[in-house]
Amino acid sequence: MRLGILIMAAGKGTRLKSKRAKVLHEIGGRPLLRHVIGAAAQLVPARDILVIVGHQAEAVESAVRDTGVRFVVQEKQRGTGHAIQCAERETRGYDMLIVLSGDVPLLRAETIAALRDFHLSQRAAMSILTAEAANPFGYGRVIRREAGAPEVAAIVEQKALKPGMEEVREINSGIYAFRRKALYENIGRLRAENPQKELYLTDMARLLAGGGKRVVAIEAAQPTEVLGANTIAEMMELDREMRLAEARRLMAAGVIIFRPETVTIDVGVEVGADTVIEPFVQLLGQTKIGGDCLIRSYSVVENATLADRVVVRQGCVVAESQIEKGALIGPFAHVRPGCHIGEDAHIGNFVETKKTRVGKGSKANHLTYLGDAVVGAGTNIGAGTITCNYDGVNKHTTVIGDRVFIGSDSALVAPVMVGDGAYVGAGSVITDDVPADALAVGRGRQVNKPQWAKNRRARKEARKPGSTN
Ligand code: UD1
Ligand code: CA
Repeated sequence: MRLGILIMAAGKGTRLKSKRAKVLHEIGGRPLLRHVIGAAAQLVPARDILVIVGHQAEAVESAVRDTGVRFVVQEKQRGTGHAIQCAERETRGYDMLIVLSGDVPLLRAETIAALRDFHLSQRAAMSILTAEAANPFGYGRVIRREAGAPEVAAIVEQKALKPGMEEVREINSGIYAFRRKALYENIGRLRAENPQKELYLTDMARLLAGGGKRVVAIEAAQPTEVLGANTIAEMMELDREMRLAEARRLMAAGVIIFRPETVTIDVGVEVGADTVIEPFVQLLGQTKIGGDCLIRSYSVVENATLADRVVVRQGCVVAESQIEKGALIGPFAHVRPGCHIGEDAHIGNFVETKKTRVGKGSKANHLTYLGDAVVGAGTNIGAGTITCNYDGVNKHTTVIGDRVFIGSDSALVAPVMVGDGAYVGAGSVITDDVPADALAVGRGRQVNKPQWAKNRRARKEARKPGSTN
């Protein structure tokens, strides 16, 4: 028995009112279609997955090409039945086909496997995955031959419901298993006799059952799994479900997440045990966080790697960077791409770093910009220090050694180097390299003019009208 999986992903998604193709909208940080391919790929090799594309076919293909699936083009989108018609030639090598919808992204591989096994054990021509929906509006309804029996007589779309059928709460998930031969021997009999003038795959249930073929239905274990995303609101509902599932997965592994309904965690983010995540945190992309960390509220960590015991205080943005163990970030720090923050280093309030290495135990605690810089170990960067890395044309590097002390409000005009153990006086503009262990002072000398202020006040007083002088 050779099994192929078809994923219908050619539709426009008119109900979204979006320029972007529906299956490219993201939940849990990934396009809908990627979730569906991910589940399918747990059952069959990627080459046995055929994605039916049409609307924005190029964009859809390039978004998932790396998965190794094959594509079938449905030039005009004439309905789900027509989509499957388009795949006739490419599916010739298979005995059994499972059909998935690109817009039903919470479906788990276990559930697809259950549908496959049920289909085979029932020796059916068509098996339909269904669910008891709290609110079935908009879905096709599954009409069983008799209550409780596996056999199905028909699927009736919302707009074609006859009086009394509104009460049917068993919905069609849009996910099916077919004996391929039965499918393609009969698919030519579909007619576009409906308000949309489309060929509905759902009509195969009536056609096959009417022709004496066995059509059966199996209910999904979790009804939420088969929810579709036809509107932005539905999609955000699925996003919430998926992220809550991620939060639960992490909590089961020992991560402490306060108010998990407020955090935004992308699928696949890794977090170690005993790490505390406060409300309204976002952990995005390929982020990996170690154990015993503290990520405080309103921080966004994206494609970053944090070792154990890292503290990210409130309101930080950390992107595409690596933070070593025990480091302390924020509050209100911006660690931009390409940074490596060393063990026990501090990046404090209103400090911005970009493409910068900060060595072990070094500190930049306040109001600083470190861009294209290399900072050694045990160095202190005073408040208000700026690396002037850009000359209007090119970016240049600032190199600061170990155990350096940079006085507050200094400007380091790159390219420039400050040697190990050196001091830079506060308020300096450093344009030349500072040798190791030297003191550099690059500022105007202070002049004190005795009595100057007092004399000025006296002169002002004298100029006032009515003055006796
Ligand atoms: C479909 C089912 C409905 C079911 C629901 C479950 C039909 C007629 N109805 O309705 O019974 O309850 O799914 O979510 O099938 N697509 C194509 N080519 C097309 C049209 C659609 O590839 O010509 C793709 C879409 O991109 C989408 C999937 O097929 O991924 C389903 O299409 P959609 O228009 O969303 O169907 P529903 O109205 O949700
Ligand atoms: Ca749909």
